[in-house]
This record gives sequence, structure tokens and C-alpha cells, in this order.
Amino acid sequence: MEQYVIRGGRELYGSVPISGAKNAALGILPGVILCRGTCRIENLPQISDVANMLEILSSMGAQIRYLNKNTVEINSAHVKNLPTPYEVVRKLRASYYLIGALLGRFGHAEVALPGGCDFGFRPIDQHIKGFEALGATVSITDGGIVEAHTEDGVVGAEIFLDVVSVGATMNIMLAAAMARGTTVIENAAREPHIVDLANFLNTCGADITGAGTDVIKIRGVEELHGCTYSIIPDQIEAGTYLTLAAAAGGEVTVTGVIPKHLESITAKLSEMGAEIIEHDESVTVRRPRDRRLRRINIKTQPYPGFPTDMQPQFAVLLALADGTSILTEGIYDNRYKYVNELRRMGANATVDGRIAVFEGVERLSPAPVRATDLRAGAALIMAALAADGTSTIDEVRYVERGYEDIIKKLRAIGADVKCIEQYEATKALG
Ligand code: EPZ
Repeated sequence: MEQYVIRGGRELYGSVPISGAKNAALGILPGVILCRGTCRIENLPQISDVANMLEILSSMGAQIRYLNKNTVEINSAHVKNLPTPYEVVRKLRASYYLIGALLGRFGHAEVALPGGCDFGFRPIDQHIKGFEALGATVSITDGGIVEAHTEDGVVGAEIFLDVVSVGATMNIMLAAAMARGTTVIENAAREPHIVDLANFLNTCGADITGAGTDVIKIRGVEELHGCTYSIIPDQIEAGTYLTLAAAAGGEVTVTGVIPKHLESITAKLSEMGAEIIEHDESVTVRRPRDRRLRRINIKTQPYPGFPTDMQPQFAVLLALADGTSILTEGIYDNRYKYVNELRRMGANATVDGRIAVFEGVERLSPAPVRATDLRAGAALIMAALAADGTSTIDEVRYVERGYEDIIKKLRAIGADVKCIEQYEATKALG
């Protein structure tokens, strides 16, 4: 088991190149199943979630050729529509996109219910509502297998989502791309990765309009062909490094980004007193360590609101801000498991359901802590770099699900971070 050893307490300076968006890649890769021909996908982040998705596609018969660590060529001509078992999909919540892709191509899908981050109940009722509207009969068998079946393929439909759901929006797009007739998704999610999936499918010959708004129209086409497509930069990875600069102090620039995708994040950083400098494809955050952050209130919302995937990271800033801040989680029931770990580092926070109240402290203290999920792990790394002294972070496998080359990128901006094997750590303790 790996452990990060982090010595914090000093300002960070330098640039971080941002990788391709995890949550775009995890929708686009299953989308390749719909395409007749070879797809070349570029700017893929080299993270374990992507590796797991590629492993699943390969186990289904997709032919995958790695051109380099961030580029693959995939031909799904020989993909077999066999039941995708739990042991294959359990590591990856996004495996549910296989249902939409297999339904869209074969008119039938059997995929085990997903695993993934554990912060409250994460239903897929809106996905199922979409599949049923497209004419599928959907059942969940005893073994937790989602079975979606149509007599002779999916038929376009009007679908009004009861909840703004990224996953349901993307899954319905996948299922409807080659439907007979037109599908309209109302109350659709508007995240950048929704637009990226629509752009990928359109590059393969689909006819999707309105992605990025709350009404998406999908005119079904006969066939999708192969293509070359480059994944958009990861808004949450970029936001994490910008927020790290505000937490530790210093000046950090994220490069290869789309500043517009970061607007809700940089607006909050600016509200807290960090200086933001924007260029065409880069954003810089500057905050002298001796100039304390201002307190603010935050509520997470669907895009273009403040993203829930930046909530744990900003909690570190609120824990250090001058005054009382209120953080409201607008998306999930229970995304505060990491607060106990922050308390071990001296944070003064109380949690009541979806609301966390932070009484800012001057400094966080180093401590041994444990990541509870992907973004919580990133937040603890930030807290350790802001704290003056040496911290250790266990369960870093969560972090490596979503942050490519994180040790290398942190060291490049001056962070003192080591990754050691757990047994080494216990040996070191004697
Ligand atoms: C995606 O999850 C992301 N994961 C999550 O990022 C992100 O937090 C989330 O969108 C919100 O932005 C991937 O893209 C792989 P949702 P998803 O469906 O699609 C409820 C990360 O850190 N809901 O938009 O599962 C749901 O319970 C991960 O990268 C239903 O009620 O999220 C939640 O409260 C963590 N019924 C809300 O909607 C449904 O059928 C939003 O969920 C589906 C969702």
C-alpha cells in the first residue's frame, strides 16, 4: 500500500501542465463501442480510472493500441455483447456508460451495477428512466446486473430528467446516438465533459445539438465511423492546483486549460483574496503566504455553478480563512467524510447534513491522515502542503484514480512530496 510523505509550510512556485479530463474520457471511451472503424483518442489522462476502463473494453473484445501514454487507437468491431461482470466493473462507477453504449449499438446490455467513490447513495434511476423512454425494458437482477433490452433497437424519445445528472445525460446520449428518430433531453447537465462527449460523437458522424445547455437534441443516425479526437483539459485537476496555490501560498500557473471552464473556481478564489491572472490557455493564482484568505460562503451546484468536485479542496481554504465560512453541498448527501481528517490537522469545523461550518484557524498542523475518496485525497495533500511540518497520507490509491503524474507535478512547483510503500513507512517508524 502506498503512502505519501509530505513536508509542508512553504510557498509553491511554478507551472503545472493540465492533463485530459477524467470525466470526459470515461464517457468517450465507452462511446467508441458505437463506432464502426478505428478511433484515435488523444490527450487521455494516464490515471487508474482510464486504465480500468480500457481494460474493460479490451476484455469485451475491443482492439487497443497504445501510441504513447496519452494516445490510444481503439477498434471495437469485435466487441462482444457479453454480460459485464461485477469483478470487472466494480472499481469504476463510470462503467455504467457501457449500458448506454451497448444499448445504442446492440439494442441490449447486461452490465453489473458500478462501484466508485463512497459519499452517500448514488442511484441510477434517471439513467433507467432514459433507457425506458428509448424503448428498453430495464431490470436489475439479483446479482446486481442491470439488464436493458429492446425488441429491435432504441427509438428516439422526449426525456425530462428529474435531477440534473451528468451520468444520465451522457448515458442517454450514448444510447440515443443511433436511435430510430430524434431524442430530446430536457433538464440536461451542462458540464464541459457533456459537451466533449457530444463533440466526440459528432466527430464520428452523430447529429447532436444543444450540448452545454439544458436541452440536448440527438437526431439518430444509421452509423458512426471512426475518428481522431483530443480530450478537453481537466477543469477539476486545474482547479485543484490553483486552489493548492491559494492554500500553501506562492504563485502557480496551470497551462493548457480553458479558462472559461474554471470561472466559478477562480471567482471564489478571487473572493477569498487570491490574485487571479488569466491568459488564453493558462491561469495563474498568486497569494503571499502571510496575507490571510478572507472567509466566504460556498454552495456546490451543477455546472456552471461551483463544482461539487472542488468542495473538499475549498474546505481547506475555508479552514484557514479569517472568520466563519459556510459550505453547503448541493449535490450529494454525504461528501464530508474527509472533515474528520482535516480536524486531526487542527481544522475547526462542524458538519450537519449537507452543511459544514468552518471557524478559520491561522495554521493547520501536520498529522498522519487517510484519503477517503479521490477529491478528499487531493484536499488532504493541499492541507499537508499548507501545514508547517511533515504529514503522511494513506489510501493514496484514491488520488491516483484521477490525478496524472501528481508527485511529478507537485515537485515541479517546489512541493516536498515522497511516495513510499507502506511497509517502508512502518519500518521507518521502527
Ligand atoms: C459525475 O458523477 C462525476 N463522475 C462526479 O465526479 C461528479 O461529482 C458528478 O458527476 C457531479 O458533477 C464522473 O463523471 C465519472 P450525477 P455522476 O449523476 O454522473 C443524483 C469525481 O470526483 N442522481 O451528476 O454519478 C446523484 O445521487 C467524481 O470525478 C440521481 O438521483 O453524478 C447526485 O446527488 C465524483 N439519480 C446528483 O444526482 C440518477 O440516476 C448528481 O449526480 C443519477 C444521479
